[in-house]
Amino acid sequence: DWVMGDYIAEAVENIRKQVGDDEVILGLSGGVDSSVAAALIHRAIGDQLTCVFVDHGLLRLNEGDMVMEMFARNLGVKVIRVDAKDTFMGQLAGASDPEAKRKIIGKEFVEIFQTESGKIENAKWLAQGTIYPDVIESAGKGKKGAHTIKSHHNVGGLPEDMHLKLLEPLRELFKDEVRELGVALGLPREMVYRHPFPGPGLGVRILGEVKAEFANLLQRADAIFIEELRNTIDEASQKSWYDLTSQAFAVFLPVKSVGVMGDGRTYEYVVALRAVQTQDFMTAHWAHLPHELLGKVSNRIINEVRGINRVVYDISGKPPATIEWE
Ligand code: XMP
Repeated sequence: DWVMGDYIAEAVENIRKQVGDDEVILGLSGGVDSSVAAALIHRAIGDQLTCVFVDHGLLRLNEGDMVMEMFARNLGVKVIRVDAKDTFMGQLAGASDPEAKRKIIGKEFVEIFQTESGKIENAKWLAQGTIYPDVIESAGKGKKGAHTIKSHHNVGGLPEDMHLKLLEPLRELFKDEVRELGVALGLPREMVYRHPFPGPGLGVRILGEVKAEFANLLQRADAIFIEELRNTIDEASQKSWYDLTSQAFAVFLPVKSVGVMGDGRTYEYVVALRAVQTQDFMTAHWAHLPHELLGKVSNRIINEVRGINRVVYDISGKPPATIEWE
């Protein structure tokens, strides 16, 4: 609409004025905020923007290819894809504590991002998809003296010794506005209205020690769950169950249970499905998904993902449980 058109024109003008002829780098995570920031900055300064996309191997199925397809191919944005799967798996080996895993992932991410962005000559600016609620949240920190339940460091955090100026064109926007902006900039609606995904990714959805084999099983189970949620329309609201839930995902439980297949006995891993409805993610209800939907997802996962022979549904609210399992 015209209001958004005006907004974009003004934002583009501001970015051009701020940046001049300098080069800008941006850490692309595949999330909504960094994606919209990239699209907006690219609109303003084109090839003066270089995005660095660190693939830690703990993303959703095919996420890396999708990011490249959307930005590099469709929008013509310069994106450096760093395949750091092996590095992350190596660093995570032996770590099973949730906070320890978050720290390892966050630290490794920053190091790789710094190394890669250090190769970009003349970069003077670091762009980030900081949005208004992030600004408020960090201003409030300390004041409340809040104890950390989970260290939510977004893995795109600013390494302070990089000597780059910050470019944060979404600082005044709420999430809904960021989404509208993303659509207006040509990002696919499906991408812009995606459920949030934690920075440490599947690293906190594989309970305990992270292994490549577990990540592979989990990615496939999760993709089936999401596909069925998108494809199942609730009659009353005419919305998909994906849109009726705030966040939904599969969790890998590294325990084996007994099953039967044909004449044989199986002894394989368990996947838990989690789907919640919430306004602010501080409290949440488990989603009352239709039993037929749950049944279909369970059958598909067990039939299609060899290595999983049992699927359970998480019916815990937050509090006392959290949305993620770690
Ligand atoms: P919990 O599990 O604390 O999650 O109820 C609330 C919201 O925060 C997300 N989350 C994270 N996001 N880094 C992130 O960027 C993290 O370490 C992290 N841990 C949880 C979670 O997905 C949910 O949306």
